[in-house]
Amino acid sequence: MSEKEILSKTEAYVRNKLEGEGSGHDWWHIHRVRNTALKLGKEEKADLFVIELTALLHDIADHKFHDGDEKIGPATARKWLSNLNTDESVIDHVCEIIRDVSFKGAEVETPMKTKEGQIVQDADRLDAIGAIGVARAFAYGGHKDRELHNPNIKPKSHDSFDSYKKSAGPTLNHFYEKLFLLKDRMNTASGRKLAEERHTFMQEFVERFLEEWGGK
Ligand code: ADP
Ligand code: NI
Repeated sequence: MSEKEILSKTEAYVRNKLEGEGSGHDWWHIHRVRNTALKLGKEEKADLFVIELTALLHDIADHKFHDGDEKIGPATARKWLSNLNTDESVIDHVCEIIRDVSFKGAEVETPMKTKEGQIVQDADRLDAIGAIGVARAFAYGGHKDRELHNPNIKPKSHDSFDSYKKSAGPTLNHFYEKLFLLKDRMNTASGRKLAEERHTFMQEFVERFLEEWGGK
């Protein structure tokens, strides 16, 4: 099967699976990550086929919605790509990125082995910050029945993926536990630049949120 056919079949598969999802991991998240990743990929002269395929499949079976199972994402992607007779080397590369891409806690490093992985990680993280990041965080919190904010519950700095996965604090804590940290973890120069602006917006949002909370 040609690369073009693999991409269009994969797009239809992912769209069908994630369309209408309500936690911020819906088809349009995938669409935005794909566009950002391709933009970064062109600037960084990376393998655009691997990038596009990985962006499409990166949330096909997220551990957050499968009892913390970290293997289900790469396994689902591998099964799908094998059925399309994709090159083994491409399948291995895509699945390795999907395995490594997620944030795993403030004190846990998440290095990416290849340029393509670094780019998909940057694109995924850019969609977690800025105005869209704010919207996605509260959508996720609502989906998981979390409070918006609770001043009695302080943010934590997670030192293992397990403790990060188990955390169920109010959504505002997620800004301190993850979202504010992403800017300094960008892999590419172009990703870092985009992250700066989105980060500043998010800081202003939280500042204002807390002012209003305090009755200002
Ligand atoms: P990652 O694989 O790095 O976790 P995803 O593409 O799965 O990235 O999306 C993560 C997004 O899900 C976060 O940026 C946020 O919008 C939302 N999210 C995850 N955990 C929480 C949480 N505890 N509170 C609020 N939002 C969350
Ligand atoms: Ni994602």
